[in-house]
Amino acid sequence: MCLKFVVIVLISFSTTAFSSNVEYDGWVNINLQHSLTFSDKPVFTDRGNVTIQSLRTGTAVVQQKPLTQSDRVKLRDLSATNEFYQLKSTVTLADGSEISFLSTVKACMLVESELNDILSVSLDYSGRVIAITLAVASTSTCEGAVVPIDKLKEFSTSVFVRHTENGPTPDTATYIQKLEREREAKERGDVKDNRSFLAKYWMYIIPVIILMVITSATNPEGAGAAR
Ligand SMILES: *[C@@H]1O[C@H](CO)[C@@H](O)[C@H](O)[C@H]1NC(C)=O
Repeated sequence: MCLKFVVIVLISFSTTAFSSNVEYDGWVNINLQHSLTFSDKPVFTDRGNVTIQSLRTGTAVVQQKPLTQSDRVKLRDLSATNEFYQLKSTVTLADGSEISFLSTVKACMLVESELNDILSVSLDYSGRVIAITLAVASTSTCEGAVVPIDKLKEFSTSVFVRHTENGPTPDTATYIQKLEREREAKERGDVKDNRSFLAKYWMYIIPVIILMVITSATNPEGAGAAR
């Protein structure tokens, strides 16, 4: 009876913990900046903004400026020299603080995909952004495909929200069924206790032995007299 109660408390505890993982929601603003020159000190310029309106459903609104002619040339040059395109994503938190994530892809891959890219936003169990990574949407191979510069005008960005997987949850339902089956079996008298006398009653025997040792140690005369 008591064990059953404990198990039920455990189950309700674990369901609340689980549902709080799933039921959070909120929105996140991400400012995107990129560097179209590759150097130790990249210079980031504004690329656009992503607003994830619902972290749970992953609905996102993407606003991005078209690349200027000089930016297109820079990007093409970055691709021609086999350098990396760098993206800095800055998340502004509810308390006003900011956290930035840096992601790089080969510029030639981005160019060959004609600016079709994928932004993955990873969340932890509480809905906090823990990573933002950029990938390229097509299977570009960087084999020197010639991309006309006017194809490098607008980014077409897909946003994916990834929720951190829950760890394995204890299989309490099966455990309770097992307990129930055992209880029923006991009631029907199916379970025969085949254990030896010592295995069955050691918990009663050991205290008696300890008690005997203690009394004989504190009362040596008595022990001597008994001998
Ligand atoms: C993105 O947001 C920043 C800051 O609010 C703003 O300065 C910038 O113009 C926005 N960019 C676009 C493309 O909307």
